[in-house]
Amino acid sequence: MLNVQKVRKDFPILKTGVIYLDSTASSLTPEPVLDKMLEFYHEYRANVERGVHHLSQKASEEYECAHAKVAHFINAKSDSEIIMTRNTTEGINTIANGLDWKRGDKIVTSLVEHHSNFVVWLRVKNRHHMDLEAVRPSEPAEQGIISLNDFEKAVDDKTKLVAITHVSNLLGTIMPVKEITKIAHEHGAYVVIDGAQSVPHMKVDVQEIGCDFLAFSGHKMCAPTGASALFIREDLMKEIEPLCIGGGTIADAGVDYYKLEENSSRFEAGTPAIAESIGLGAAADYLQNLGMENIRNHENKLTRQMHEELQELPEIELYGPEPKDKIGIAAFNVGNLNPHDVALTLDVSANIMVRSGHHCALPLMKNVIRKPGCVRASAYFYNTKSEIDKLVSAVREISATMT
Ligand code: ALA
Repeated sequence: MLNVQKVRKDFPILKTGVIYLDSTASSLTPEPVLDKMLEFYHEYRANVERGVHHLSQKASEEYECAHAKVAHFINAKSDSEIIMTRNTTEGINTIANGLDWKRGDKIVTSLVEHHSNFVVWLRVKNRHHMDLEAVRPSEPAEQGIISLNDFEKAVDDKTKLVAITHVSNLLGTIMPVKEITKIAHEHGAYVVIDGAQSVPHMKVDVQEIGCDFLAFSGHKMCAPTGASALFIREDLMKEIEPLCIGGGTIADAGVDYYKLEENSSRFEAGTPAIAESIGLGAAADYLQNLGMENIRNHENKLTRQMHEELQELPEIELYGPEPKDKIGIAAFNVGNLNPHDVALTLDVSANIMVRSGHHCALPLMKNVIRKPGCVRASAYFYNTKSEIDKLVSAVREISATMT
């Protein structure tokens, strides 16, 4: 079981009294992760894979070790399946720009996606004269639950790629990605999974899911900003043209030719975010030490509490599925109040940080929720029952102004 009070000591920012319920936008960073990054600057600050001197050797070793830790965290077969990126968006764009598209190819996605796993595919569709189908969640659609039958109908033999989020960033809904992957593979399609909201919150196993690509963000899983990862199945590495090429990506070059590396190095052009990536490795260790099961169980309790208590309040419209089908997200509106006003009031009156607006999910907001925006409170393993009590009581006060 998680000792939350002990864990909270790793996050000095929590001592200020702030109630941080915005971890799905960006989580907090614990001291052990910051210490590991500082170790790089204090003890072996040098470039990686570009020097025979011992500082460069040590930096390279730690940088490679971070790949291995991330690979282990998602159960990739080897560290050579892990590419360090800035964020999930960069990972998804790498696949979108790197595949060899043909006129008439089809992409299947869903209406529940973050823009980073939606507009990217719209651009591919427009550029290459392709088809795109976005599967709508089944009714009641505001729960964001996708029916496998609907997916089965959408995926056909022209489908080259299925792009699906593992967890909705707005509603918290967990998608049946393993089953979706199976359907896609039966039709010879690739599967890219947006793992931004799943990898930090639950055990994600790429071999068990069977997906071809998985992109996720370090800054949502206790790592610093700018350090994220893209998993590419090893045998597909050579099929993807990198987004950027240059230093570090080249096997050979002459005046009129170049040959890219065939392994993951082909994707990491230029000096990478070394300290941040080492921090990502430390974050993977940190979460693993806490135990992903423990994290999920603790979050489940907070999710139930948020969901059940908020839905009892007058004037509250709560979106998303039952707590068992989602991660620790409560997406809601208070009557017809502007969600930004609600978020600002929560900050000013109760020191509570939540996100408000369309949450980079306009297709979902416009076509399913049918509101310009909503408030989203999101809990992580360092949040407590008493913090959720304070959220509920602050929202109650706001809703009382409506009656
Ligand atoms: N993708 C992040 C969110 O949902 C930024 O808030």
